Amino acid sequence: MSTASAPHPHTTRRGIKRVLQNASRAPAAVFLRELVTNPRAMGAVWPSSRQLAKRIAAAVPCNGTGKVVELGGGTGAITEALLARGIAPDRLVVVERAPGLVAVLRERFPRVCVIEGDAVHLTDLLRDEGSVAVVVSGLPLRSLPPRVVARIVRAASEVLDPGGLFIQFTYHLSPQRSLSQRFAAVSSRLVLGNLPPARVWAFVNLRCAETTPVP
Ligand SMILES: C[S@@+](CC[C@H](N)C(=O)[O-])C[C@H]1O[C@@H](n2cnc3c(N)ncnc32)[C@H](O)[C@@H]1O
Repeated sequence: MSTASAPHPHTTRRGIKRVLQNASRAPAAVFLRELVTNPRAMGAVWPSSRQLAKRIAAAVPCNGTGKVVELGGGTGAITEALLARGIAPDRLVVVERAPGLVAVLRERFPRVCVIEGDAVHLTDLLRDEGSVAVVVSGLPLRSLPPRVVARIVRAASEVLDPGGLFIQFTYHLSPQRSLSQRFAAVSSRLVLGNLPPARVWAFVNLRCAETTPVP
């Protein structure tokens, strides 16, 4: 057998290295790395299923001009469903704190504005974004520290239009109590096709137009 067609060892090694590099940048690998290094901020063992993401997106009205802001984009399961629902890419803003996941989101959705930052600083992060009609949260509000959650909830209420919608999913039976001071629940749907099954809650922002934001 001729050895002329056998790949040079360097080529093989480079090939293997490239495969490993690509594999480590794959969305699932980045998700798992984040889960290992920052479990409380991830709050889930796996990205949302298509069924859950579709149910969340279905709670978002397609019409209107205000921005749709997604918090905690992760690998983009919900982002993908929002786009499939017909939300225009230039209406969508995704906020994600983990740089590795920000890179995944920017690569997957080049036409969507992906902001790297902490949702605690939402008012600053969205300063130039104009009116916000809907906030879709993929944040693990049950596993984040209560003080952090309180700041995020307050910031979300301040950036969101009065009467705007806040969508949150949870693996628990009841909605987050942390939301009840600033939001009122308007609907909830159970999604069995997710690991674990989840409930999608829609809340309306109770802030009135003339209310001065609480410092
Ligand atoms: C449960 S994962 C959800 C990911 C994706 N939305 C999904 O449904 O598959 C939670 C995401 O929220 C992000 N996150 C957690 N705390 C955050 C914060 N304070 N600000 C912005 N993103 C945050 C995590 O990095 C992670 O990507």
